[in-house]
Amino acid sequence: MEPRSTVIEIGRAAARLRAGDLVVFPTETVYGLGANAGDPRAVARIFEAKGRPRFNPLIVHLSDIDQLHTIAREIPALALRLAEAFWPGPLTLLLPRAPGVPDLVTAGLDTVGVRIPQHPVARALITAAGVPVAAPSANPYQAVSPTRVEDLDKTIVACAAAVIDGGPCAVGVESTVVGFDDSGRAVLHRLGGLPVEELERITGALLAPGPGVASPGRGTRHYSPARAKILLEPDLDPGRRPHTRLLCLRAIPEDEAYADVRELSPSGDLRDAARNLFTMLNTLDRESDLPIAVRLVPATGLGAAINDRLLRATGAGG
Ligand code: TXA
Ligand code: MG
Repeated sequence: MEPRSTVIEIGRAAARLRAGDLVVFPTETVYGLGANAGDPRAVARIFEAKGRPRFNPLIVHLSDIDQLHTIAREIPALALRLAEAFWPGPLTLLLPRAPGVPDLVTAGLDTVGVRIPQHPVARALITAAGVPVAAPSANPYQAVSPTRVEDLDKTIVACAAAVIDGGPCAVGVESTVVGFDDSGRAVLHRLGGLPVEELERITGALLAPGPGVASPGRGTRHYSPARAKILLEPDLDPGRRPHTRLLCLRAIPEDEAYADVRELSPSGDLRDAARNLFTMLNTLDRESDLPIAVRLVPATGLGAAINDRLLRATGAGG
C-alpha cells in the first residue's frame, strides 16, 4: 500500500516533535511513539504514555549516519561495518553513549540504542525535525506492537500531537538489537527484523548476552493481547479445539476442528508471516476473547523472530 501521509503532515508533525510533543510515526518494523531525544521532558512523556518503567531504555532514531557522533562515541569497528551493511534498516546497535544523551533515554546505562530506519516517512520526519528521535514501539507497555494505524491503542493516540499514517509496516517485527562486548565482538540482544543469518555473514557467530549484561527489555511477558489467552498448540488438550482459535503459518485439514483458523502466510513465506503477525494478533484479540493456540513456524530467517514473539505472547519467552 502507498504511504498515505503528505509532506505538509510530516512538516507539521516535525514541528510538534521539535516543540516537545509526541508523534506516532511509521517505520519499516512497527509504528514508533517518538519524542525529541535531546529533550528529557519530551522523553518522559513517552514513559507516561506507555506506562513503561523507566529502567527500560529507548532506541534513538537518526536519518543520517553523520548524526551518529552526537549520540555515540568510541564506536567499535564491527559496529561501523554493520551500520554500513544494514542501515537504513531493521537493526539497532547498542553503542557507548555520547555525553549529552539524556539519562532517561538510556535508563542510566552507558550504552545507547541507535538505528536509522528505512521507512521513507520516518526518515523524512527525522530530517524535518532536525533532531534525533527517541522512539519505542507505539503500544502500551507489554501489549502487541502496532503495524497499522488501525491497530493503535486509543490511550497512545490521545497522548500524541500527531499520528502519521504510512500504511502497513513492511517488516512487521521490531528491529534486531545487537551490542558489543569489551573485545568488540557482537552480542545478540533481541531477535528481530534483520535475520541472524544475514548478520552473521559479517559478525561470525553472534554471542548471547552474558550474565550481568543489561537487556532490560527482555522481560518474559511481552507482546500479549489484552483479552485473549495465548497458549502453545502442543499444550492444548485436543478436546478444547472447538473452543479455541488457531494462529499458524499454514493450516492442515485437521485444523478444521478449531473454532477459527488464521494463517500467517498461506504460501508459507516467513516474510509475509512476519508482516502479518502483530496485525493478526491485534485483530484476533479485538474479535473475541476465545483462547488462541499458536503453532511455531520454521526457525530460519524471520521465523526465529516470529517464534520469539509467539513464545513471549504465551508468557513463556526467555
Ligand atoms: O523496530 C524497533 O526497534 C521499534 C521501532 C519503533 O524502531 N522500536 C522498538 O523500541 O521496538 P522498544 O522500545 O519497543 O524496544 C527497544 C528494545 C527494548 O527491549 C530495550 O530494552 C532495548 O531495545 N534497548 C534499548 N536501548 C538499550 C540499551 N542501551 N541496552 C540494552 N537494551 C536496550
Ligand atoms: Mg516495544
